[in-house]
Amino acid sequence: MNQTLHQRVRWAAWIAAAAVAVCVLLLTISYAAARLQAPRDEKTVAELKRKVREDASFAPRIEAEHKRITAALQQRRKRDDVIAIVLLLAASLFVAAAKWLAACGGRRQLPMDRLVQLKAAPRQGPALTLPAAPGGAEEPHQAFVERIVEQHGRSREAAIPILQAIQAHYRYLPDEALKLVCELTEITPAQIAGSSSFYSQFRRSPRGRHVVRVCHGTACHVAGARLITDELRRRLEIPGGADTDAQRLFTVDEVACVGCCSLAPVIMVDGQTVGKLTPTGACDALDGIRSPSPA
Ligand code: FES
Repeated sequence: MNQTLHQRVRWAAWIAAAAVAVCVLLLTISYAAARLQAPRDEKTVAELKRKVREDASFAPRIEAEHKRITAALQQRRKRDDVIAIVLLLAASLFVAAAKWLAACGGRRQLPMDRLVQLKAAPRQGPALTLPAAPGGAEEPHQAFVERIVEQHGRSREAAIPILQAIQAHYRYLPDEALKLVCELTEITPAQIAGSSSFYSQFRRSPRGRHVVRVCHGTACHVAGARLITDELRRRLEIPGGADTDAQRLFTVDEVACVGCCSLAPVIMVDGQTVGKLTPTGACDALDGIRSPSPA
């Protein structure tokens, strides 16, 4: 359902953008037409005035001409007002939709097609191998999924608590765990896709053992947050489009103001705030917690 919502918002953004373009075009045409028409009207009135001086019977025609020009002007203003209102509404809708899509776009979308295929095709062969849970949980992974399903139920209403439990255990939602959930419950791949992409608490990609949040609030942005993020990503060799290094040691997130603007630029490493940083200083701050072993 939320996937449908995503598509609808995308369509709304496109329609709003098209409406903005049409309104701007109409206003431009209206303005250009008025600029072209004004000299013609002035010329007509001047001509009539000249004729009135020679023949008084032309006086009513001047009055009629003035009325026509005034009526045309008022009509154009009304039309432009309506277009301007539509333009404002469309622009507001576009900005709102674009913000929503941008917020959703930061999270990797669920490969729904793949999950649907998995749901359709019963699993055969050896048991699934789930990624290791952080913290070295001793419980077998399949047993973990079965346990949380038993705990929260098999109905569709249990989707969010189950996803939350998986997220809390693995710090992201592994495809293999989601497949097991689909097999063991009435929850559908589409429902999982919708929930996991709609709620920002869910991640579809693995998280590093340490989470580095780089503040990109206004104060930190002005103080060089972008340089810090870029340097961290470069030093940690995080590829473009990803937020976690290959060893799953560090995840670098860009976040809004964390409330320590006087220390800008600020990063938070596993919840600890470090401020007044340079790009090099930010990398040095990670050196103390670097570990050669992967998560
Ligand atoms: S803007 Fe970074 S802490 Fe406020």
